[in-house]
Amino acid sequence: MELLEAAGRRFARLATNAVVARPRLWKLFRRPLRAQFDRLAPSWHGRLGPEALAALALALERLDRPPRSVLDLGTGTGKAARLVAERFPEAEVVGVDLAPAMVAEAGRLLPDELAGRVRFEVADAAELPYGDAAFDLVVLLNMIPFFAELARVTEPGGALVVSFASGPDTPIWTPPGTLRSGLGAAGFQRFEDLAAGPATALLARRRQPG
Ligand SMILES: C[S@@+](CC[C@H](N)C(=O)[O-])C[C@H]1O[C@@H](n2cnc3c(N)ncnc32)[C@H](O)[C@@H]1O
Repeated sequence: MELLEAAGRRFARLATNAVVARPRLWKLFRRPLRAQFDRLAPSWHGRLGPEALAALALALERLDRPPRSVLDLGTGTGKAARLVAERFPEAEVVGVDLAPAMVAEAGRLLPDELAGRVRFEVADAAELPYGDAAFDLVVLLNMIPFFAELARVTEPGGALVVSFASGPDTPIWTPPGTLRSGLGAAGFQRFEDLAAGPATALLARRRQPG
């Protein structure tokens, strides 16, 4: 079992590195990664403690203004989506995941008091079913960044947070330099690095035109 888990973590890192370097390779990794996370869904919620969210929480304190429309990409069982919704009572939050079993778990774990403004949907972060500039905050916790789609759906002046629960030891992890250059080329700026224990976060803002 432990061996299988280790192989899964290695595969997730391999997929992340490959797709960040060459987004077109995503079509090769999409199905196996979805199957992997569908299998993990029933046990996912108990895996990460509250410290996993600490750097993301710090980044939320640094936002220029409270967000109103938030996307949590690769939401898994919805931890980051719930955190953002609790922190910003005015925000509408969509949590998106490729794996239907994760989305089902996220819905099951959603407290009644958040149900009116948090929803979970199955979608692919590489090709999102949302309009341009649809969100003023996009968050990723332990998730592969698809730079072009991140830039497309984030409103100019809006914010992006890319956080990793265990910094470089997170299986799905992208080095800070790679993140900055990919996001910078896609149209993000004003980067801030945050850390809390082993958790890290990069906060960026979508460039305004002109
Ligand atoms: C390591 S888990 C992180 C889950 C959650 N953010 C957390 O930290 O608990 C990565 C999640 O991203 C999802 N995922 C991977 N690639 C995706 C994609 N292209 N679009 C949407 N979700 C994706 C997986 O199904 C999985 O649930």
